[in-house]
Amino acid sequence: MTMTRTIDSGVKQAFAERLFGDVLGMFNLAGVYLGETLGLYEAMQDGRPVTAPELARQASIAPRYAREWLEHQAANGVLRLEADSEDPDERRFSLPAEHAAVLADRDDLDFLAWLGRGGVAGFSRLPDVAQAFRTGGGVSWEQFGDPMRLTQGDANRPLFLHALARDYLAAIPDVHARLTAGGRVAEIGHGMGWAAIGMARAYPNVTVDGYDIDAPSVAYARENARAYGVEDRVRFTATDAAQAAGEYDLVTAFECIHDMPRPVEVLRAMRSMVKPDGAVIVMDERAEERFAAPAGDVDRFLYGFSLLVCLPDGLSHEPSVGTGTVMRPATFERYATDAGFRRVEVLEALDHPFFRFYRLHP
Ligand SMILES: C[S@@+](CC[C@H](N)C(=O)[O-])C[C@H]1O[C@@H](n2cnc3c(N)ncnc32)[C@H](O)[C@@H]1O
Repeated sequence: MTMTRTIDSGVKQAFAERLFGDVLGMFNLAGVYLGETLGLYEAMQDGRPVTAPELARQASIAPRYAREWLEHQAANGVLRLEADSEDPDERRFSLPAEHAAVLADRDDLDFLAWLGRGGVAGFSRLPDVAQAFRTGGGVSWEQFGDPMRLTQGDANRPLFLHALARDYLAAIPDVHARLTAGGRVAEIGHGMGWAAIGMARAYPNVTVDGYDIDAPSVAYARENARAYGVEDRVRFTATDAAQAAGEYDLVTAFECIHDMPRPVEVLRAMRSMVKPDGAVIVMDERAEERFAAPAGDVDRFLYGFSLLVCLPDGLSHEPSVGTGTVMRPATFERYATDAGFRRVEVLEALDHPFFRFYRLHP
């Protein structure tokens, strides 16, 4: 039997317009990618209005492209048109201070220029992801390569270097007291190493051992620890965290459990590594407790990353539980319980728009 479907032309028009808006956002991010990659925001960071030929000279790019980028960015409200002119090369544009913080200051908690790079890193692998949809296979973190590693690193860097200890660990009194006195920390799935480095800088008496399965990430993390002068107290090892061992006062895993093909094995290792009176802290996505459609912005954002990166990464190994980015609290609680933890506590007082903090009780 064929179903007759009537079309509401108003709904159809509204949907078409909505998709058109999505495309405008995508193009805006393409401009952000070019601005960040070519150092154009940095060149304009001081707020001085520039013409296309001036920007071209300063950033060593071709003047005709400088003009198109400046006009595109001003047309999209990223840059401000300071002085108009009939001659396009005489027009002057500036980067407002508030936009410069988001686009050019890697230490600002609102730094988001990595979104352009992250989009390109994900989109460039979409043909492989489509193939994985057909086969049930995956696209590994290694295949996503440096563009994705560095994007991930830049995304959490300001949080880990500036806020993790000050606003989050300091709000867990026994952990804060212990780290202030000294102690050993194990940082699981450390990526570029920023959380380990941030903890070592905030607590000058601790030593941190990082464990990550991705050897290139370990090499970057070592370089970063050297650049921040903490290489004597922060050590990074390339290994599957399921094989890690030791005796630690604090064991952490930040935004990585949902990526792991076998999270229970890693959580089990984390449980065995913590001293009886120590703490295990996990930070992962603040997905809603239940699936809903349409969903809120956080779940929509997480589903985007899940389609592009995290689910294909998780499914690139066998066997895999295939969690994806949208790891709901009940799923995580199940993993932790299966790993032998007695209780999972959501640290509600530790508020972050995108992350939820859990404390696991051995
Ligand atoms: C999304 S990145 C997060 C990196 C870092 N924690 C951050 O927040 O920027 C996930 C990391 O987990 C690592 N990883 C995945 N499975 C792992 C395993 N079994 N053992 C150790 N590291 C693992 C990956 O190599 C990657 O560096």
